[in-house]
Amino acid sequence: MIRLTLDELKQAYADANPKSLAAYHKACERIPGGVSGNVRFVAPFPLYMKKGEGAWLTDLDGHRYVDYVLSFGPLIHGHGNSEVWQAAESYVKEHGTWLYGASNELELEFAETLHSYLPSLEMMRFTNSGTEANLLAIRLARAYTGRRKVAKFEGHYHGGLNAMLISTGPKLQQAGAADAPLSVPESAGIADDELQDTIVLPFNDLDAVKRILEARAEEIAAVILEPLQGGTIPATEVFIHGLRTLTEKLGIVLVMDEVKTGFCISMHGAQGYYGVTPDLTTLGKIIGGGMPIGVLGGKKELLQMIAPGGSFLPGIGEKKTEKVENLFHSGTYNAHPLILAMGLASLRLLDKKYDDLVANTERLKTGIRKAYEAHGIRVLTPGVGALFNVYVTDKKEIKNYRDTKACDMALRKRMDYALLFEGVYNKPGKRYNISTAHTKDVIDFTLDAFERAFQKL
Ligand SMILES: Cc1ncc(COP(=O)(O)O)c(C=O)c1O
Repeated sequence: MIRLTLDELKQAYADANPKSLAAYHKACERIPGGVSGNVRFVAPFPLYMKKGEGAWLTDLDGHRYVDYVLSFGPLIHGHGNSEVWQAAESYVKEHGTWLYGASNELELEFAETLHSYLPSLEMMRFTNSGTEANLLAIRLARAYTGRRKVAKFEGHYHGGLNAMLISTGPKLQQAGAADAPLSVPESAGIADDELQDTIVLPFNDLDAVKRILEARAEEIAAVILEPLQGGTIPATEVFIHGLRTLTEKLGIVLVMDEVKTGFCISMHGAQGYYGVTPDLTTLGKIIGGGMPIGVLGGKKELLQMIAPGGSFLPGIGEKKTEKVENLFHSGTYNAHPLILAMGLASLRLLDKKYDDLVANTERLKTGIRKAYEAHGIRVLTPGVGALFNVYVTDKKEIKNYRDTKACDMALRKRMDYALLFEGVYNKPGKRYNISTAHTKDVIDFTLDAFERAFQKL
């Protein structure tokens, strides 16, 4: 059993990482909190990395780790994949530049490729991040329906936009009843009207969702969800099909945020896995091969609202609209050719390796479960495809945010800190991301590390 306390483990972590600690102290003078994104913070300070290679990372103090963060998801082939890198080099050699800020054929090829895997993306626009894609999805749903409010699920994350920085991880004392959750801000700087415009729903509770949506349907432009909460906790079949039917009936746009799940839980995303067709889908992470990207795609009837007026070719998007009737979307780096080239190479490679990726993930999941159980600790490992999480719990299943709060996260975190000393890198308490570089040997190393961590502790 794990005997060291969390504080003792954090002290040992600090002692083992003097160079990261020194870098962190310097960073804190120039970069708020010493991190370029709040989720990158790890207590007592984050490790500074200096090298990546396949499934492995090396930090400033020279420790080598199997990487299960994978930059929070995009690195589906691990670090420095040569085929993905080659695609970038070839693009520049052939085309002489990496940015046009103008139309190019690669964006068409990329759009066709995404459409072939996710047919619900009848049309699409490229953005630079998942956050931007969700921002655009909400603007579009509002424009299409003429309604103002947006509904999201408690515990679901959709990026750093004000409308969605609500109830991603609320304190239960502030969160209201389980079947009628309150909107709780997750950041300073969220205006009251933004808070009121976001309605919070309970995940996997169709009766409650029906009651809330039916009562306020006239005001609600969109329902947005992570089809697997946090990428790992699945919607039940009844819930997700029920939600599709309900939103259709109420004229509410259904947005599936597949930023984590797209090309990860299946090559056809969560929508392919469940056989549900959303009105809009947002993508990001994996589709860029490790480079910044996002996509908003979906029904032509909606997406066509973004098309600028002024085409003079009859039959091809001909549209004579006033500026204000068009929905604005632009971005200096949208459909960046270098990113599209790397993303395409990455997706093609993934298609070839997907089955092995899932088999290795299953091997790891089962191994981790057994490792905990061998030491008398029961865990659940929800997840599909190449993503899963580990929850220490006696529950039969984890269905939503409140279930996760009832798990023993302290024990899970102690294990994660202990694993760092054995060469396994994850953000304590977070999901496991697996890449095609996590071969059988890497998985075996990881499972041995679990055993060593348990023995030492
Ligand atoms: C489901 C989901 N949506 C949106 C986002 C935001 O994407 P990005 O960080 O690219 O802005 C994330 C990022 O973690 C995410 O997991």
